Amino acid sequence: MFSTWSSPNPVLFGSGSSKSIGEQLVKHGCKKVIVIYDKGVKSAGIADRVLKYIRDAGVGTVCYEDVRSDPPDWSINEAAALAISQGVDGVVGVGGGSSMDTAKGVDVLLSNAPPINRYFARPGMPPAGDLTSLKPLFVIPTTSGTGSEVTPGGAVTDTQHNTKENFVCPVTLGIVDPELTLSLPAAVTAATAFDALCHTIEAVVSNEPNKFSELFASQAITLIGKYLPIACGDGNNMEAREGLMLASTMASMSILGPYCNIPHDVGVVIGVLFHMPHGVAVSAVLPEAVEFVAQAVPDKVRLVAECLGENVPEEAGFEEIGRIAGRRIRKLMEDSGLPKINTFAETMEEFLSAVPIIMDTQNFHFSPRPVTAGDIIDMLTRAYSASLP
Ligand SMILES: [Fe+2]
Repeated sequence: MFSTWSSPNPVLFGSGSSKSIGEQLVKHGCKKVIVIYDKGVKSAGIADRVLKYIRDAGVGTVCYEDVRSDPPDWSINEAAALAISQGVDGVVGVGGGSSMDTAKGVDVLLSNAPPINRYFARPGMPPAGDLTSLKPLFVIPTTSGTGSEVTPGGAVTDTQHNTKENFVCPVTLGIVDPELTLSLPAAVTAATAFDALCHTIEAVVSNEPNKFSELFASQAITLIGKYLPIACGDGNNMEAREGLMLASTMASMSILGPYCNIPHDVGVVIGVLFHMPHGVAVSAVLPEAVEFVAQAVPDKVRLVAECLGENVPEEAGFEEIGRIAGRRIRKLMEDSGLPKINTFAETMEEFLSAVPIIMDTQNFHFSPRPVTAGDIIDMLTRAYSASLP
């Protein structure tokens, strides 16, 4: 099998790199930009810091500070209307995946007629909208998880159909500054890091494996296993913050080729249904999915376990390999205080009501093993039971 890899978005990585945003905007000819973030980024003081860097460079700003999680279509349309009315010539997104996705959507709508719903990507179809005259778009992540600075697209909630949709939008430059994550609460650190961990593991076990992806993924898994518990215990540990930020960027690079499978296929549905943070939703069946796919790709699951620091006996069969990897991931969930899924759905029955929707809307195309409704019921049941006190 051939392996190809290319990075669609340039990335600037390093502690203190966000200070260069003003200079970067000037370099790209921006005179007035919309800066997009949420209330958490504002209250952490990060928005004001970034705004100062931009204004100090002589670039004007308009602020949209009402970013919603899993950004609804109306919110992207609202932010774009503000940007258009203010005549901006560039976009800056500051925050987690939702802020970066909102910024990407606004960038699409600065050169394509609203609403964003016109530009949902459809399998096998070319990108909707004109992507040749986009305004400069800069994204500055403040969490170590989505890796949205690397991916050439965004996600949006279609509020009419209650589904998560995607659109295409490349980024001019992702500025990845680990210093911005120092104030992140432990629960957010854990949830976002687990999103990154899912990206890596899904890349490794994918039925379309890629040697470049595996290289990024295995390094990212090692970094997350080492640094996540440290960062959750001491949020000011700079070495751990740098390790996690590097891991999340590499995790997103790893998934560019093979694409996500079981954990994300399940997670995007239950996340919308039960209003779960993306990282918690996609991790809901991560240990169970790893155990499930070990039958098809035992060597890949062995690699995951070993990157997480486990010694897997040479003679171990797929069941033992899956058990070792699943147990290690559950331990990491416990050690990092990842929010439990039973806090989002009160009963098992409520949780399992997601199964028909999962089977109707997800194709598990990149899973290394065929997936039936019974398999998903089994994974969700075991995951929910494990979350109970
Ligand atoms: Fe994700």
